[in-house]
Amino acid sequence: MDRSLCLCLLICLFLQCPFSYSWRSLTFLDLGSNLLEGPLPASLCNLEKLQYLLLSDNKLNGTIPHCFGNISTQLTVLDLRRNGFHGMIPTTFPERNQLRNLGLNGNQLEGPLPRSLINCKSLEVLDVGHNHITGPFPDWLGTLPELRVLILKLNRLQGPIGNSSNKSSFQKLKILDISYNNFTGYVPAKMLENFQAMKKNDSETSQRQYMGDGTYYLDSVTVIMKGQEYEVKRILTVFTTMDLSGNQFEGNIPKSIGGLDSLRLERFQESSRGTNSSRWAVLYLS
Ligand SMILES: *[C@@H]1O[C@H](CO)[C@@H](O)[C@H](O)[C@H]1NC(C)=O
Ligand SMILES: *[C@@H]1O[C@H](CO)[C@@H](O)[C@H](O)[C@H]1NC(C)=O
Ligand SMILES: *[C@@H]1O[C@H](CO)[C@@H](O)[C@H](O)[C@H]1NC(C)=O
Ligand SMILES: *[C@@H]1O[C@H](CO)[C@@H](O)[C@H](O)[C@H]1NC(C)=O
Ligand SMILES: *[C@@H]1O[C@H](CO)[C@@H](O)[C@H](O)[C@H]1NC(C)=O
Ligand SMILES: *[C@@H]1O[C@H](CO)[C@@H](O)[C@H](O)[C@H]1NC(C)=O
Ligand SMILES: *[C@@H]1O[C@H](CO)[C@@H](O)[C@H](O)[C@H]1NC(C)=O
Repeated sequence: MDRSLCLCLLICLFLQCPFSYSWRSLTFLDLGSNLLEGPLPASLCNLEKLQYLLLSDNKLNGTIPHCFGNISTQLTVLDLRRNGFHGMIPTTFPERNQLRNLGLNGNQLEGPLPRSLINCKSLEVLDVGHNHITGPFPDWLGTLPELRVLILKLNRLQGPIGNSSNKSSFQKLKILDISYNNFTGYVPAKMLENFQAMKKNDSETSQRQYMGDGTYYLDSVTVIMKGQEYEVKRILTVFTTMDLSGNQFEGNIPKSIGGLDSLRLERFQESSRGTNSSRWAVLYLS
């Protein structure tokens, strides 16, 4: 976008001036990696044609206006990662929305994950890591037919994870990071075994495709590999990882995980957290 146009829009946004017709037809707004601060103006919800709203790596704070659950049925990417938002995630995601990537990582959001996420049938990436989200493991997200990346890392989720043997649950999941929560009980072997997309598929490994729509936006995530955190700017569609570290799982590593044979097992000591016993970490790579 033209710099002066961008600046003009910025001024407009933060002075909350009414949107003229031309702003209403805006489809792509990228103000990521700036020094924007203060609350997110609810007037952004009036941009009915908006498909990409990219505001990551700013200093925005306050709560996410409720209308954002509703912002537009056109919106495909909402990236609010690494800001200072607090309060609840909007709860009103409408049916037939187009949301493909919801990035809320690195805020102070709290409360449970909203059930209306179930309406986001196109959702491929849900990244809510590094927040204060509470509640049980959201196994109901397993019904999202396109979900490939689920990042719940560093939240306050707790309790045992169900052991559903439903083969159509989490069908396309390739990246699962539930590390540093408070999950308990045995590793849900049956459920992991059903992750069809993590199984080897030779016809896929020959292709090198990146996740995203290939035009304006490529999906990116932060993953831990060999104990180091990496920002993966382009997620290869064949990239597969699972991180269960920093929880309170007990028992043995289930044999069935060996069945996820596109994955390599790696186990690392978690001495930094001063514990050794029932906490264990696994990481699987394609
Ligand atoms: C939001 O940030 C501004 C400026 O950085 C600060 O003055 C204000 O207190 C913050 N508001 C909240 C709710 O944290
Ligand atoms: C969501 O959108 C619908 C239809 O435009 C409207 O009736 C409803 O009040 C909106 N809800 C919120 C929370 O903005
Ligand atoms: C299995 O999962 C699919 C999709 O997630 C769902 O539609 C179906 O109802 C589930 N079946 C059972 C028996 O729970
Ligand atoms: C984890 O859950 C246990 C049992 O519910 C609870 O006693 C403990 O305080 C929780 N720990 C954290 C860090 O939330
Ligand atoms: C899940 O099911 C498998 C096979 O039925 C069983 O061995 C395992 O203990 C179960 N895990 C949990 C968490 O219930
Ligand atoms: C392997 O990947 C190809 C291409 O994405 C797909 O059409 C095919 O159904 C996959 N096979 C299995 C067994 O998942
Ligand atoms: C982990 O266990 C090993 C062997 O049992 C022990 O030598 C080591 O001190 C333990 N580390 C921590 C951080 O507890």
